[in-house]
Amino acid sequence: MKALILSGGRGTRLRPLTHTSAKQLIPVGGKPILFYGIEAIKKAGIDEIGIVIGETGEEIKNTVGDGSKFGVKITYIFQPEPLGLAHAVKISRDFLGEEKFIVFLGDNLIKDDLKKFREYFEKNNTNSLVLLSKVPNPQDFGVAELKDGKLIKLVEKPKKPPSDLALVGVYFFDKNIFKACEEIKPSWRNELEITDAIQWLIDHKLKVDALLIKGWWKDTGKPEDLIEANRFVLEDLEPDIKGEIIDSRIIGRVKVEKGTKIIESTVRGPVIIKNGTKVIKSYIGPFTSIQEDCYIENTEIEDSIIMDKSEIRDVKGRIEMSIVGREVKIFQDHSRPRIHRFILGDHSDVRLVE
Ligand code: DAU
Repeated sequence: MKALILSGGRGTRLRPLTHTSAKQLIPVGGKPILFYGIEAIKKAGIDEIGIVIGETGEEIKNTVGDGSKFGVKITYIFQPEPLGLAHAVKISRDFLGEEKFIVFLGDNLIKDDLKKFREYFEKNNTNSLVLLSKVPNPQDFGVAELKDGKLIKLVEKPKKPPSDLALVGVYFFDKNIFKACEEIKPSWRNELEITDAIQWLIDHKLKVDALLIKGWWKDTGKPEDLIEANRFVLEDLEPDIKGEIIDSRIIGRVKVEKGTKIIESTVRGPVIIKNGTKVIKSYIGPFTSIQEDCYIENTEIEDSIIMDKSEIRDVKGRIEMSIVGREVKIFQDHSRPRIHRFILGDHSDVRLVE
């Protein structure tokens, strides 16, 4: 069985982070989101993966490589425009061939082991298997309608959802899906929807099963989803202190990588601090991930993601539920006149307190 990971698209809801970077490469729990998908697929016993890439493709190729660091073989498939998930599947036909395959959305994080779903799909002789999860906001997803446990209808982001069962971004297909992707028409958002392609399978009497997942699942489409995903991943963090801890208090599950210095600070886990970062006279609170080569001084941070090479100094008031991109500088300016000065990218979001 092969796997197809969809990592094209534009990530408009995650601007400004996605003005300069692929949304699938935003780190949560110290690792790009996309890496979790590759690892989950590998764990399910699949080691041939196609990754659909779009305008951010070069960055994805540079970060993921040929797959050898994950023990898999990766083939990149270029999608010139994000014309929909079914379009991405359609253009991957040569790579996928005649075999059954799994499609995994590159911005999804799922805790359940994919192996049991793979086994179900292979044993039950079904043409497609979709996974569902109960959500409080079904209108933001593809939604399933079941009758006596059987899937009868799927609708993409309905205004009036027929249930609270969202389609998780993991699908199993056989080659019938290619015919479906050819037959369907673009939706109101001008995309070939995978939801419509699966509905086509149902309408043409092909067998589509649905299973409910039990563990957490996150579609990291919006900033608050990233913070929540970061929390989910850090829940399972294994403590491991490799960096230098000087006159500091480390409480709970904390991972500090080699080449990191924590000086006169308190770190209360779960927290991950990556290689090359310096934390001085600061408090780093639960559910915080600090990426490589950052500099944090005289600052309190909690429940946040700080990306590579950012510098945060002397901030009054705790930084909470924040996402700080790469090479960002936030500091207290002691010079006169006492002014706020910002150089912010499009769609930045700054909240000040007195
Ligand atoms: O996350 C689950 C949801 O994912 C499902 O419930 C929906 O039914 C499904 O349509 C999808 O909805 P989204 O609107 O969240 O999909 P998004 O545009 O975020 O794309 C998902 C991934 O696929 C993301 O990594 C980008 C990639 N993609 C997207 C498009 C539109 C492509 O590679 N090519 C594309 O053309």
